[in-house]
Formats: sequence, C-alpha cells, structure tokens
Amino acid sequence: MTEKISFFMKKYQDRIEELLLDVFPSELSDDPTVKAAMYSLLAGGKRIRPVLMYMVAEMLKLDLEDVDDFAAAMEMVHTYSLIHDDLPCMDDDCLRRGKPTCHIAHGEAFALLAGDALLNRAFERVLLAVTKNPKTASAASYFAGNTGILGMIGGQSIDLASEGKKIETGLLCELHEKKTGALINASCLIPYFIYAADKGEDKKLYDLIHRFSAGTGLGFQIKDDLLDVQADEQVLGKSTGKDARDNKSTFVTVFGEKSAQQMLDDTYADVYAALDELSALGFDVTALRQFSDVLQNRVQ
Ligand code: IPE
Ligand code: IPE
Ligand code: MG
Ligand code: MG
Ligand code: MG
Repeated sequence: MTEKISFFMKKYQDRIEELLLDVFPSELSDDPTVKAAMYSLLAGGKRIRPVLMYMVAEMLKLDLEDVDDFAAAMEMVHTYSLIHDDLPCMDDDCLRRGKPTCHIAHGEAFALLAGDALLNRAFERVLLAVTKNPKTASAASYFAGNTGILGMIGGQSIDLASEGKKIETGLLCELHEKKTGALINASCLIPYFIYAADKGEDKKLYDLIHRFSAGTGLGFQIKDDLLDVQADEQVLGKSTGKDARDNKSTFVTVFGEKSAQQMLDDTYADVYAALDELSALGFDVTALRQFSDVLQNRVQ
C-alpha cells in the first residue's frame, strides 16, 4: 500500500499482524500444512476486513479486545478463500500478495490442506470467543452464515458456474455481494452484534451499518474487477488480465470499464450517504470516511 494508506491503517494493521503470528500452536510450526498456511497468512495482505471491523468497533465505542478473535478469524477465512481461489481447479493463479501462490510454493495438496486448516482454526477461535463471552453468540452465528454457502462460498460457486456465460445484472450483483460482500458485511456487522448484545438492538443503527457495509463490499469487488484491467501487476501483487482470460463475469467484462467506474462511483455515493446519516446520529465516522476514500481510490 502507499505510505499514506499504511500510515492511516497502521494502528489496526499492527494489531492484526501481531494476532496472526501465533494462530497455530508453536509445536506444529514444522508441519507442512501449517507452513503453507503461514506462508500465505503472513504474505502481506492489506487486512482491510480486520481494519473495517476495528474501525466500526471504535465507532461503537467497543473495546478492541472484544473483536480481536473475530478479526483474526476473519483474516484466516479470507486467506483460506484466496488459497483455494488460486488453485488450478479454480482460478489457476501463480501470483498472490506479491509472492508465488500457495500451491506453487507448497504444492497443491498442502495448499488445499492449508486452506482447510485455516478455516477450521478460525471457527475454533470464534467458538473460543463465545465461550469467553456468551454475548458474542449472535456475532459468531453471523460469521458462520457469511463465510458459507449463503455468503462467500455461494459467491464463489456462482462465479465459477458463470464462466463463459452471459449473466443477468441481478445475478452479477448477487455474485459480487456474496463472494466478496459477505465477508466485508460480516466484518462491519460483527461489532454491531456484540454492541447490541449489551446495549439492546437498534434497528436504525443496524440498517445504516448494513448499508455502509453492503456498498463497501460491492464497491470493493467492482474495484477489484477494474484493477484486473488497469493495475500494474507488481503494485497489485497478483496477476492481471485474468478475468478476460478465464471468461469471468465481472462488472468490467459484462459492462465495460467506463460503466464499471460509474457503478463504483454511484456505489460510493451511497456509502458516504450512509456515513453521513451515522454521523447525524452522533457517531464519529471520521476514520471510516477516510478509509472509504482510500478503498475507492486504491491501486492495490
Ligand atoms: C482479494 O482481496 C480478493 C477479493 C475479494 C477481491 P484483497 O484485495 O483484500 O486481498 P489481500 O488480502 O489484500 O491480499
Ligand atoms: C475472489 O475473487 C474472491 C474470494 C476469494 C472469495 P477473485 O477471484 O476476483 O479474486 P482475485 O482477483 O483472484 O484476488
Ligand atoms: Mg475467483
Ligand atoms: Mg481469483
Ligand atoms: Mg479479481
């Protein structure tokens, strides 16, 4: 990330990096599956999901410790999804986070197991969080729903089934909302569920955070589609031009670059409108507003 971005996000990035260092017991550090998982986990992702989770948590005046386990689990699930997404049976990619993909570096079998191990370990961590604080149960349930077939996995399924096909705009939106939107949605709403378990439900607050996160998730994938045709591979840290190569249905391959850019701008207009309404309710949205600007204009 550029210096400005990394400075802005540093507080949260440092926190999550620290948590990710010891997600597996040290006695397993020589295990080939653990090695493959740690190779990808510590390869330098942007950590935007934990950062969003921490920022929403601070907006709601939660203690960051209340969301640490969920932030770590979210980044573990996200990393597993990338390891599997890059496999030859899926997108067959060789570059990720500026390094050879997990299966290129560690072999396909260990890449598969590394993804599985990260997924299971993430749920172990979430269950631990619930044991420590039963008020996080709704947050845990939301995490499970959004990472599975109703969320990220469901989106990956539509993505693969749509290769080489012309799909309706509605299905394209569903694809994006699930494969990328679901984890981003969960990242923003998990702090809300922890907050609501203590302070009581607040429908208006839920709706506004949901509106913010839905736009952020959709916008994140539209931008990802744009970067696939616009970005410098070295800066992006992953291969470019692969959506057209694989006949993927993306906002760019379906509507073209110009319309995709317009949709991104429209989506962000709504993200800022949701933040304005949260601000009018008395919440400090300064960090989320700055971060939205970073995400809308990112180059990696
Ligand atoms: C890449 O996610 C895959 C998508 C969901 C678009 P990120 O762009 O957040 O990837 P990392 O974590 O920074 O590598
Ligand atoms: C992957 O989407 C999203 C998930 C891993 C859930 P993409 O296939 O577009 O992501 P990149 O472009 O390979 O990062
Ligand atoms: Mg993919
Ligand atoms: Mg991919
Ligand atoms: Mg992509």
